[in-house]
Amino acid sequence: MNGETVVLATASDFSGWRAWSRKLLHDRVAAEAIRWITEAPADLYAPFATRVLPSAPSTTNIPRSLASLFPAVFVSEDSDRFRLLYETLQTLRDGMSVPDGLVRQLQELAAQSRERALDLRCQMPDARNPDWQVIRTSHAAAVIDSQATALSNLRPTPWIVIAPERTLCWDGHEYRFGPGLENESSDPSETIAAARTLATAGAGNAWWDGIAPVRLHPQAADIAASPSMASLRAKAVDCKMCDLCGPATRTVSGEGKPEARIIFVGEQPGDQEDLQGRPFVGPAGQLFDRALREAGGNRQDAWITNAVKHFKFVPKGPRRIHQKPDSTEIAACAPWLAREREVLVPKVTVMLGVTGASAVLGRQVTVSRERSRHIPLEDGSIGLVTVHPSYLLRLPDEESRTREYTKFVTDLRMAISALAG
Ligand code: URA
Repeated sequence: MNGETVVLATASDFSGWRAWSRKLLHDRVAAEAIRWITEAPADLYAPFATRVLPSAPSTTNIPRSLASLFPAVFVSEDSDRFRLLYETLQTLRDGMSVPDGLVRQLQELAAQSRERALDLRCQMPDARNPDWQVIRTSHAAAVIDSQATALSNLRPTPWIVIAPERTLCWDGHEYRFGPGLENESSDPSETIAAARTLATAGAGNAWWDGIAPVRLHPQAADIAASPSMASLRAKAVDCKMCDLCGPATRTVSGEGKPEARIIFVGEQPGDQEDLQGRPFVGPAGQLFDRALREAGGNRQDAWITNAVKHFKFVPKGPRRIHQKPDSTEIAACAPWLAREREVLVPKVTVMLGVTGASAVLGRQVTVSRERSRHIPLEDGSIGLVTVHPSYLLRLPDEESRTREYTKFVTDLRMAISALAG
């Protein structure tokens, strides 16, 4: 057969595959005549490397429903995946509809890759401990590569993923890719140093440009079926249930003890929370921590979350000014909070402010009327409404701040004492 052999740099070299596919489709080379192989170039892990890709005009319009499958099919373990994708493009180029059997095959491969990606994400610790974290895994290199951005959104503080065929380092600012780390030391700091030395290919190396991220596209049914806080958090990275995901840096999921018996529900992450990927770590969060300690509780024993998981703001010069989420955004985010509470089964739910209270109670709430008393919730557990800590920060004078802070601590104490009953 008079064929073409195309060499991809890695199994995650989506931009190489795309550029070659475009060229071969343009030249009308048939799928059966192409042999796709992956072979690492000598400078694959070099700090800097250039590459030359073919260029050709696009001949194909891909429907969005199919296009969204491509990155996930690409990193699947099926040895025929590159050909299947090319064949799909070839069919579309020729103006034909993609046979159902092929669509099903693509969907199945995509589902397998997404499952692997979810599994990897679930291994990522949250950002509470800012020290370097090492994640050892057996995931295929291509799946790991496809999750680099998702993993850094899950944990903006440093980590290293070590797998048989891949080392991926995130130092809090940028990624570096390297081959698998052999002969790992028993000393964790030596492992971290060795992995960092090994992972040398980053933004300056064109072989790693254009890795296609595999996204999970969570819908209400996926959220409702999530078995754990880890899987909820892993899926929420890709949440696009409302428009707030666009401007925000990342989804800020709840954090805490997965067996906690008390949950605190705020409004939405603020500027600091959006940057650090953790709820209640900015000024309101610090005040909340202090009040909680004074009330006899602590953050480590609780689950802390928000009604809305993305920061809503308007830019004003270099600052981002908080905006209240509207009822559509609160409703769009409701499946996350509902499932968090179903998985946690808390004995006590503390609603911090009107947004948290309306989201939990599913109705309009006036905080001043409903605060400071136990409210029976539908699932038989106890609810308590109190003010949002940022309300205390906004009070104009010392006297009212002290008075309201004391009432806030009293409310928190009342919530904590309900745990004992
Ligand atoms: N305000 C909130 O409601 N939640 C946060 O996480 C931070 C500030």
